Amino acid sequence: MSTSKSKNLRNIWYVACHSSLLQKGQTFEKEIDSEKILLGRDENGKVFALRNQCPHRGIPLTYGNFDGCEIECCYHGWRFGTDGTCTKIPALPPNSKLDVSKVRAPYYPLREMYGLILIYLPRDMRKPEEIDESLFPKFPMPEGGSFDFVTAGYMDCSLDHSVIGLIDPAHVPFVHQSWFFRKKNNLKLKTKKFAPSHLGFTMVRHEPSKNSAAYKLLKKEQTTEISFQIPGIRIEHIKVGTDDILVMTCLTPVNEDKTELIQFIYTNIRWIKVFKPIFYRFAKTFIQQDIDVFKKLKEGLLNQPPLMLMGDPDMQAKWYNAVRTRYEKSQAEKIPFENPVKEETLNWQT
Ligand code: FES
Ligand SMILES: [Fe+2]
Repeated sequence: MSTSKSKNLRNIWYVACHSSLLQKGQTFEKEIDSEKILLGRDENGKVFALRNQCPHRGIPLTYGNFDGCEIECCYHGWRFGTDGTCTKIPALPPNSKLDVSKVRAPYYPLREMYGLILIYLPRDMRKPEEIDESLFPKFPMPEGGSFDFVTAGYMDCSLDHSVIGLIDPAHVPFVHQSWFFRKKNNLKLKTKKFAPSHLGFTMVRHEPSKNSAAYKLLKKEQTTEISFQIPGIRIEHIKVGTDDILVMTCLTPVNEDKTELIQFIYTNIRWIKVFKPIFYRFAKTFIQQDIDVFKKLKEGLLNQPPLMLMGDPDMQAKWYNAVRTRYEKSQAEKIPFENPVKEETLNWQT
């Protein structure tokens, strides 16, 4: 299958994994949007991604051997460079006229920055189109910063449902109850200003809500800004005085029914590192609460019920659908992407 049959966005960058998961000379298979992908890092530290399938007879390349430079297929020993070009077919006689470099294992554009590995999933592997640099995701990272890996888990549903769950404010007091966070009988009216931003929308910088105990830990003056960009990147950027904390949650589709949720954090506040284990446990608990509610949701979605988006609390879900649709159209018609979101103030109780 070369042309994607996926309903998810293509010609777009997905977060594949944290840099630390891929050591020099290593490869592993990862399924992203129903494609089996071999991710690897060569002996010089450069990352690469190939379709995990030998072009000869289709055996996964991960069963072969990677010497840090080339991959040798386990079946007939064909060798491939990290760009997918075949370099050797051992069974061919020395005087063979066949040009082995014409054989290619399809490769995926990959980029590594801020401790993240991002992969570009094209619409059609056979006809790579030029990549529009203006559509690369934006990370508000301070110079030289990089994210730490916090935790990952799987949601038992599509990317679209997972995104809508991620940006949905109304579930928070019901799903994320705990002694250290907030209680559902403590609902307060929230008024939040939103603006269009790169590939999505942003809840503009404001003082964080007072009923979250997590914020009370940080004594200095704080503001927070929460941005969302397609395909599934949510970044909470907290400023504490002149310092930064960035909590990033990324959603990457495994296939139509499963989505990986990965969380990362960056901070330049040294003392926070001491509390890392506590924070990581907090993040894990929080994500597990989402995973658990999505298990229940999956049960309900089995008979494909009609769904509703209701008022201001569901406005971000509407915007997500609009941005996604516009992106798809811009790719199909090869026209510039125009963000359909307009500035707006939303009210809800959480
Ligand atoms: S299947 Fe890979 S070399 Fe034959
Ligand atoms: Fe949640």
